[in-house]
Amino acid sequence: MSRTLKGPEEELSPTLQVSKVSESVEIERPTEVKDIPPAKLSIRNLEAWFGTKRALKGINLDVRENSITAFIGPSGCGKTTLIRCLNRMHEMTPGASAKGQAILDGMDMYDAKVDPVTIKRRIGMVFQKPNPFPTMSIYDNVAYGPRMQGIKNKKTLDGIVEESLRGAAIWDEVKDRLKSSALGLSGGQQQRICIARAIAMKPDVILMDEPTSALDPISTLKVEELITQMKKDYTIVIVTHNMQQAARISDKTAFFLNGEVVEYDDTNIIFSTPTDQRTEDYVTGRFG
Ligand SMILES: Nc1ncnc2c1ncn2[C@@H]1O[C@H](COP(=O)(O)OP(=O)(O)OP(=O)(O)O)[C@@H](O)[C@H]1O
Ligand SMILES: [Mg+2]
Repeated sequence: MSRTLKGPEEELSPTLQVSKVSESVEIERPTEVKDIPPAKLSIRNLEAWFGTKRALKGINLDVRENSITAFIGPSGCGKTTLIRCLNRMHEMTPGASAKGQAILDGMDMYDAKVDPVTIKRRIGMVFQKPNPFPTMSIYDNVAYGPRMQGIKNKKTLDGIVEESLRGAAIWDEVKDRLKSSALGLSGGQQQRICIARAIAMKPDVILMDEPTSALDPISTLKVEELITQMKKDYTIVIVTHNMQQAARISDKTAFFLNGEVVEYDDTNIIFSTPTDQRTEDYVTGRFG
């Protein structure tokens, strides 16, 4: 990762120039806000490439802890590419590369010293199509990650599986059939198993790429309710094409276009009084 990138402090340079021009000018300084915690995840000048095609053109975005951040924008604008960069999956695509920084709790996850496996443990992922491991039982799907981390004790695993399934609001529906195949469940249930599988790794951040687009309205509402409850324990990023969903569940929304963030703000502002005309056109359904 490049170390020559501009940091956020450089954005303050206009203020510094003012103070150089005239020492007597009173500069209004922003009041320090104590209640706002630092960003859990800071994305700085992140670029992603597929061969020579630049899919992300320098993304800057802060994701706050214990919040839900929605990524919206038309097809092909780079939402999936960005979340795949955020858990070091992007680079697994042949010919793909990334440049810039993605800082998790102060650690640049692209630093050469950082092991991508650690990142995948700390940043969980839920995909568009529920993808439980097809040959495994419900129990084994959820226990898979902890087992890979070396946990063998049955009691410990039982505890993790129950806690994760409860956390994904599906324990009551599956507790009597833990040994049966996860494929025997409905799509909405399978997606909650996938969320349980992500939770079992005790991640800091959970990235969800259109997690309800394959679900019926009732399962969608269940998963939305679940995501809303989960934010007290996790930091969540969700990609969605469903404007109502973004408006219903997210705290912050980023609107993407052609590999760039056009606007990023509180969700209610994005959906009521966005600054950029392109955001307004998109959220009101005039294009995309
Ligand atoms: N494996 C790939 N190889 C080459 N180009 C790719 C690959 N995956 C994505 N792209 C390109 O990168 C750009 C961003 O794609 P991405 O999948 O991130 O968009 P998206 O916003 O998630 O779209 P959608 O809403 O349709 O899921 C697009 O131009 C796409 O064609
Ligand atoms: Mg996508």
